[in-house]
Amino acid sequence: MNNFQDSRVLITGGVGFIGSSLARSLVALGARVTLVDSLIPQYGGNLHNIADIRDRLTVNVCDVRDRFAMEYLVQNQDYLFNLAGQTSHLDSMTDPQTDLDINASAQLAILEACRRANRGVRLVFASTRQLYGRPDYLPVDEKHPIRPVDVNGINKLAGEGYHLLYSSVYGIRASVLRLTNTYGPGMRVKDARQTFLGIWIRQLLEGQPIKVFGDGKQLRDFNYVDDCVDALLRAATDDAAIGKVYNLGSSEVVSLGDLALLMTGLVPGGHFEIVPFPPERKAIDIGDYYSDFSLIRAELGWAPQVGLREGLVRTIDYYREHGRHYWEATA
Ligand SMILES: NC(=O)c1ccc[n+]([C@@H]2O[C@H](COP(=O)([O-])OP(=O)(O)OC[C@H]3O[C@@H](n4cnc5c(N)ncnc54)[C@H](O)[C@@H]3O)[C@@H](O)[C@H]2O)c1
Repeated sequence: MNNFQDSRVLITGGVGFIGSSLARSLVALGARVTLVDSLIPQYGGNLHNIADIRDRLTVNVCDVRDRFAMEYLVQNQDYLFNLAGQTSHLDSMTDPQTDLDINASAQLAILEACRRANRGVRLVFASTRQLYGRPDYLPVDEKHPIRPVDVNGINKLAGEGYHLLYSSVYGIRASVLRLTNTYGPGMRVKDARQTFLGIWIRQLLEGQPIKVFGDGKQLRDFNYVDDCVDALLRAATDDAAIGKVYNLGSSEVVSLGDLALLMTGLVPGGHFEIVPFPPERKAIDIGDYYSDFSLIRAELGWAPQVGLREGLVRTIDYYREHGRHYWEATA
């Protein structure tokens, strides 16, 4: 018997990239899953992400900013995975208020809804490594100073802070994961609004050069989506995670130039070019980053299992077959 058999699970942002992969795992574990997603066209929600499991879960097209709807939806849930988010760093600078409304205010409202209607729920919040800003040292552990370089990082920090506060003050069992770059089938690949990796995959498959900004020497770590889902499930079920913050990450650290080489080698005719950093991106760039994830490894036994090359092969194969559902997707 697993923890999720017949349990009631709510996933905000559930039609998005990570939420839909999580939903697939939970459905397989026998959970009764409800997805909440606004399907705002320029965001990451895509109904193709759940095409194979659509008849095994409930989809509620609803915005997490709708407090009355959320107060109703959190009732009687055993688990709540809080993944809905405005995820574009650039958009958070051009439209900071929307980022604040979704990533901070709505999170507080969801926690208030839990306090009033379901204090027994088990919560996991998807935070981001972006809130560390430009690292003072590498790898970055959870004790690293917090110095966000964009509005998104500040609002995600507030979002995770509310979860931890409601855990310590009201006893609502919440955990926070600070995700690093996550990739895999279902990620948004339409344009460069979210991660550069998405647009790289699309450009490669369309025979266009991929563009590496700067000198290509920037270091990053990446998690394949299945490893991220594994971490979310562990955080939700291990009491050691209550009230805690954990970094995710990978010990396979790669420069963006080497990543471009690896990816272009996976697609016949693939090529890349090094171009100057667009100024609006340079201003919020964090330089080199990779995580120290030893805390979650020690406390929850988590470590990434899928290597970068293998994960990229799986991802590119997926978009070869399903790309048309993503290139022009509106939801
Ligand atoms: N993918 C990554 O590399 C990464 C890295 C760090 C943190 N995260 C965090 O993980 C979470 C999931 O990210 P993802 O990569 O799956 O992104 P995604 O954009 O694919 O998924 C987010 C989902 O939230 C939905 N959403 C956005 N605003 C909403 C609202 N107001 N109401 C209801 N639904 C709304 C979107 O429609 C989308 O389906 C986000 O909170 C993100 O900040 C992701």
